Amino acid sequence: MEFQFSEKVSHLQASAIREILKYSADPAVISLAAGSPAPEALPTKQLEEISKEILAEEPSIAFQYGVTEGYTPLRDEVKKILADKGVYNPEYDEVIITSGAQQANELSAKVLCNEGDVLLAESPSFIGSLNAFKSYHVDLKGVTLESDGINIEELEARLKEGGVKLVYLIPNFQNPTGNTMSWEKRVKAFELCKKYGAVILEDNPYGDLRFAGEDIKCIKTLDTEGSVIYSGTFSKILAPGIRVGYVCAHKDIIQKIVVCKQVADVHSTMWSQMLAYRFLNKYDLAEHLVSLRKVYKHKTELMLGEIAKNFSSKIEYTKPQGGLFIWCTLPEGVTTQQMLDFCTKAVKEYKVAIVPGTAFEIHEDDPTRSFRLNFSTPTDENIVKGIGILGKLSKEMFGE
Ligand SMILES: Cc1ncc(COP(=O)(O)O)c(C=O)c1O
Repeated sequence: MEFQFSEKVSHLQASAIREILKYSADPAVISLAAGSPAPEALPTKQLEEISKEILAEEPSIAFQYGVTEGYTPLRDEVKKILADKGVYNPEYDEVIITSGAQQANELSAKVLCNEGDVLLAESPSFIGSLNAFKSYHVDLKGVTLESDGINIEELEARLKEGGVKLVYLIPNFQNPTGNTMSWEKRVKAFELCKKYGAVILEDNPYGDLRFAGEDIKCIKTLDTEGSVIYSGTFSKILAPGIRVGYVCAHKDIIQKIVVCKQVADVHSTMWSQMLAYRFLNKYDLAEHLVSLRKVYKHKTELMLGEIAKNFSSKIEYTKPQGGLFIWCTLPEGVTTQQMLDFCTKAVKEYKVAIVPGTAFEIHEDDPTRSFRLNFSTPTDENIVKGIGILGKLSKEMFGE
């Protein structure tokens, strides 16, 4: 049967990367394409222990319906985390638990944006959020991302054009670039958005994964009137499979998000929320984060070192101080098709998967000569092997 998909979703597709993902399924492929935490960073032993306790002590809560706003003890814990970190000191009705940050971002756009409203995002940006925004038929526009955050002049020009409802920012170790927004730009972006009446959606899944440099305060710390929505997640610090995230926003926004979440999934899985809560209570989160940062520091340094040794000297790349990604840019003059050929050849002939930059463009056919590398998922051995192979191919295609 030929299905007639709705206009909302018929334009959502990732055709440029479909070919590459097809080959990535081969177990012989070294994947530098994932966005997942390091397997060795997952606290599986602790989660196993807590799981047993939940089953023994509170099975009827774990397997029952819960309230849409989230498991109360976890909401309290999230409130405490936000306050302790100095992000924000939320009231009870300013925080809810979501099914990952993905849902927090999606619902934020849903409650604020009408069809045709302008939504600004860093260019490039996280594909999951971009697709969520596109499904609401917003007028999605990009603002150039620089090594220290979005270009502020361009942001102001876009805001001046009018109609901007939401500005989506990933200030820490951005996906896909690994770039971090400077404090100066955070302040300027906040002031500009306030001046032009746009709400900021600050997505911070990687903030706790800083392994070098100094922490920079969140944009939410500047917020006195509720013009910043802050989304967080346990995916990158605990486990993405539990699908537990949260959103902190003005209570009027939260109220609407709650109604939309009721429609979407009623509530996030109680079992998962209890896992997160018990982990925070039983173990030392700060200690756990120290061990995660150690793993990621090692893997980043290993990958950066191998890139320096092996890649064509004409390829530029970011040197992130946290997060999971390195962003590589092929020499000037290289076309989008040549970048795609490089990525396809890497996976098809040499069995190394990377994600072409097209996946993160605001509009899929926007030109790009970049690709994303992930250092968290592969083993050390595969980092060395994979980067070695890509290096050889890069020199073959783009010169020494
Ligand atoms: C920037 C960004 N936001 C949100 C998410 C979604 O995270 P979650 O697993 O909490 O839904 C990701 C996941 O990779 C991400 O990179």
